[in-house]
Amino acid sequence: MSLFINHLNEHIGEEVEIRGWVYNKRSSGKISFLLLRDGTGIVQCIIFHPDANEEIIKVFETLTIESGVIVKGKIKKDKRSSIGVEIDIISIIKISDSDDYPITPKEHGPSFLLDNRHLWLRSKKQNAIMNIRSDVIFYARQFFQEREFLCIDAPIFTPAACEGTTTLFETKYYDDKVYLTQSGQLYMEAAALAYSKVYCFGPSFRAEKSKTRRHLTEFWQLEPEVAFMNLDEDMELAEDMIVYITENVLNKREQEFKDLERDIEPLKKIKKPFYRLTYTEAVDILHENGFDDFKWGDDFGAPHETVISNKYDKPVFIHRYPSKIKAFYMKRDPKNDELALGFDMIAPEGYGETIGGGQREDDHDTLVKRIKEHNLPMEAFTWYLDLRKYGSVPHAGFGLGLERFVQWLTLRNHLRETIPFPRMMDRKMP
Ligand code: 4AD
Ligand code: MG
Repeated sequence: MSLFINHLNEHIGEEVEIRGWVYNKRSSGKISFLLLRDGTGIVQCIIFHPDANEEIIKVFETLTIESGVIVKGKIKKDKRSSIGVEIDIISIIKISDSDDYPITPKEHGPSFLLDNRHLWLRSKKQNAIMNIRSDVIFYARQFFQEREFLCIDAPIFTPAACEGTTTLFETKYYDDKVYLTQSGQLYMEAAALAYSKVYCFGPSFRAEKSKTRRHLTEFWQLEPEVAFMNLDEDMELAEDMIVYITENVLNKREQEFKDLERDIEPLKKIKKPFYRLTYTEAVDILHENGFDDFKWGDDFGAPHETVISNKYDKPVFIHRYPSKIKAFYMKRDPKNDELALGFDMIAPEGYGETIGGGQREDDHDTLVKRIKEHNLPMEAFTWYLDLRKYGSVPHAGFGLGLERFVQWLTLRNHLRETIPFPRMMDRKMP
């Protein structure tokens, strides 16, 4: 019987086959150790030389880091092992060589590791991050499916900008041109008016011209949109979602957080309610914390978000930003036309904006005015304007940046480790 390493502890005493790769090996006198990995875990396999046949020892000696192997052995309980078991080897079949594997236990620089991303993914910490990322996606989908949201996929080729024209990737489309999507939002608005509660999850593209720790050119976004929802309810939905995903991932991935040396105590505090501040209150906090010359009306940059983020032990919703620094589709506050009914969720521990969203402009003529003010091509938005002609109702939604969320959960310094194959201004390989 062939088993994955994460299930070995359910079969103590049995003889099994494990298929994987050599993580490490060493010998001391009468005993040899083979650390075997298969992506689900690492198990220590043992050869006792006095008992072992020569064939096993011969094969063991030719194994190198990352050789492919099939090991047969008997599962033994072992208290010192993090997975609770080890293997007494009965036979080893070597499947492949692996000479001079480039990634070694010594420290490598980030650019070397990124050049070798296709191999780096095999390392223990990268494995932990990918497991956490995979579960964030799983529980995010489960959260929305449980609440009876419809999953509606948005297109990737789009005729117009959603989030400003400065970060558009343009691409040929037969004799015409299209843009890679910046957000599925506009399509989710159409879907929300069709099905009430919807979400999409897919890649978003931004031709970011800066090289920061927080920007990718290709990232994944989870975007719910709900008809008859207002700004307050929108923030509550975001809050419920973050609490749900965080709790579930913490329960399931304790070992992975340990592998990452990530203290999970701060994550255990992620409970309702999160903090809520208006933009104007957030500006006051900046003034009290060394940013005396920050002017009301300016947009927050990473250093500003970091100051606010570090002051709180839970996420903070900053809402009612000046409308002139926000997207064309945001509804204005009926109490103050200078403010947009939008919010950003700032993650704690210094992590900054992780969600952006808000209530959408639902009045036809106002939206026409905004499209003109933003110098956007009216003809690309005729369908979007139709949504305000036929049964327009208040609606709201948000976009969660998956990598930003995983970055905070795993406490990574840079976003590039939170996506399998990062795309940045200066990187498109491998
Ligand atoms: O704040 P943004 O630009 O909002 C939207 O795109 C809305 N249309 C979403 C909506 O309401 N449906 O992006 C949303 C989130 C950000 O908060 C951030 O987490 C992430 O997407 N994000 C990026 N992540 C990585 N690299 C980038 N270049 C990102 N730009 C935005
Ligand atoms: Mg934003």
